[in-house]
Amino acid sequence: MKALQFSAYGGPEVLTVGDAPEPHAGPGQVRVQVRAAGLNPLDWKLRAGYLSQGAPLEGPGRTGFEAAGVVDEVGEGVTGTAIGDDVFGLGNATHAELAVLDAWAAKPASVDWAVAAGAGVAVETAIRGLDLLGVGRGSTVLVDGGAGGVGAVAVQIAVSRGATVVASAGEANQGYLTEIGALPVLYGEGLAERVRAVAPQGLDAVLDVAGKTPPTTLASMVADPAQALTIAQFDLGDSGIRLTTGGEIDRAAALAEGARLLQSNDLVVKVQTFPLERAREAVEISESGHVRGKLVLLP
Ligand SMILES: NC(=O)c1ccc[n+]([C@@H]2O[C@H](COP(=O)([O-])OP(=O)(O)OC[C@H]3O[C@@H](n4cnc5c(N)ncnc54)[C@H](OP(=O)(O)O)[C@@H]3O)[C@@H](O)[C@H]2O)c1
Repeated sequence: MKALQFSAYGGPEVLTVGDAPEPHAGPGQVRVQVRAAGLNPLDWKLRAGYLSQGAPLEGPGRTGFEAAGVVDEVGEGVTGTAIGDDVFGLGNATHAELAVLDAWAAKPASVDWAVAAGAGVAVETAIRGLDLLGVGRGSTVLVDGGAGGVGAVAVQIAVSRGATVVASAGEANQGYLTEIGALPVLYGEGLAERVRAVAPQGLDAVLDVAGKTPPTTLASMVADPAQALTIAQFDLGDSGIRLTTGGEIDRAAALAEGARLLQSNDLVVKVQTFPLERAREAVEISESGHVRGKLVLLP
């Protein structure tokens, strides 16, 4: 089968499309014929070798942590999903014609393949962050980095829960933040003052999805620093803010919530699609750090 791969850590130029062995669904997994697969910053961090802790690459490297497709193999112990079902969700090495998923939900018929493919990681991460912060009706939350893959989904899910959402982005994305229901502010120096100006009632929670604002600044915006949570920075010093890297929620339930929101149009994921053969162009956009919505590959 055709797959995106690399034989050495490096820049986008190491990526090639070539033949790879077909994966098979293990216990609790399904295999899908991939219709579309989302791109995430983790893909280029993996390909650049940032996750290898100096160890050399063993065998061809593969990318992709989410996909949407048609189930063609069901692993032992899986119930409620059958061959032929349309699903989307989370897995590994999904930038290929076939991929194994370990958490998934049914794809609503009205939701485009590319949208579903790009929703998996963002939905799971956004719901995890909002749940850990207890964001719900009546909360006021800042999503720092609200126009990106995770950010735009977090903004819309928080809005759908009845929260007041302040979100930061660059100049070009201020209108987009308004479109998805947030009170927009510019990120960078002076962020806390700008947030206070649009939310004088104060913040109940801060969700940092960009990893750019200093942890002490994030902590200063809430009464209790533990009400600031980051998904994207690891050196938090003694700021008291929290980090989530995964594992705290039921991923399939989160994906099912995402599917419901996509179907009801309470969640809209903007996608830009690229054929697998032009993956490098998509990866270069991802590495620029200024993505609006999601980049999606079509095998
Ligand atoms: N811990 C986890 O479980 C987890 C899960 C998923 C992702 N992540 C990490 O979370 C980060 C975001 O992922 P993503 O997929 O949302 O990335 P993305 O789609 O590339 O979005 C990045 C966003 O960051 C914004 N941004 C750039 N500079 C900023 C600044 N100084 N202040 C605030 N925002 C800024 C950009 O806004 P403009 O375009 O307006 O400049 C852009 O919308 C990545 O580091 C990723 O690896 C972690």
